[in-house]
Amino acid sequence: MARWWGAPLSLEKLAAEYEPQLSGEDPTRVYIVSLAGRQIGMAQTYRWADNEPEATEIGALPGEAGIDYLIGEPELIGRGIGPVMLECFLRQVVFADTGVTGVSVPIDVKNTRSWRCLEKLGFQRGEALPRHGGEVQYVPRLRRQDLGHLDAAQPGGTVTDCSHSAGTQ
Ligand SMILES: CC(C)(COP(=O)(O)OP(=O)(O)OC[C@H]1O[C@@H](n2cnc3c(N)ncnc32)[C@H](O)[C@@H]1OP(=O)(O)O)[C@@H](O)C(=O)NCCC(=O)NCCS
Repeated sequence: MARWWGAPLSLEKLAAEYEPQLSGEDPTRVYIVSLAGRQIGMAQTYRWADNEPEATEIGALPGEAGIDYLIGEPELIGRGIGPVMLECFLRQVVFADTGVTGVSVPIDVKNTRSWRCLEKLGFQRGEALPRHGGEVQYVPRLRRQDLGHLDAAQPGGTVTDCSHSAGTQ
């Protein structure tokens, strides 16, 4: 996780980073992911329209949302949990917002686990694109109309809304 999200932050820096989201100043919505009652990760979503200039850099389409995610327990990575977690998040949160037309996610081409995880959910990986800092990224996309192929059964995880001091879903 540190490779893609950077070294762990101090509690103070963590609080400073997430306080605007918890207070509602930043419209990004942050969730804790639980599996069988255990908190195992986080996922967040935002509208690309609120995130220039990166939205232009990735060619975000009108109404598209972005997502970020991680499994925070090393022993649970690489065991097929990510696709279940993200299917749950996409259905229960991201596409529950009827204004969201699709999701696009810039991912370092070297983060195979992450883009493979999205491909398993039906995202189209697309071509590799240059990224600020000289790196190369994919921008896998899933359109709302292509959601139907996902298993209609609800996966077993739950997500808890931490944004704007909201309660649980
Ligand atoms: C990204 C993440 C959520 C994916 O969840 P996951 O449960 O680990 O994903 P999976 O176990 O389904 O693995 C996804 C794919 O990666 C592949 N994979 C597994 N281990 C791998 C490895 N060591 N190297 C490369 N690919 C690997 C698997 O083959 C799998 O594809 P397959 O089922 O078609 O074979 C999780 O790995 C994670 O939290 N990573 C750290 C944080 C991060 O990178 N977040 C995303 C930033 S964009």
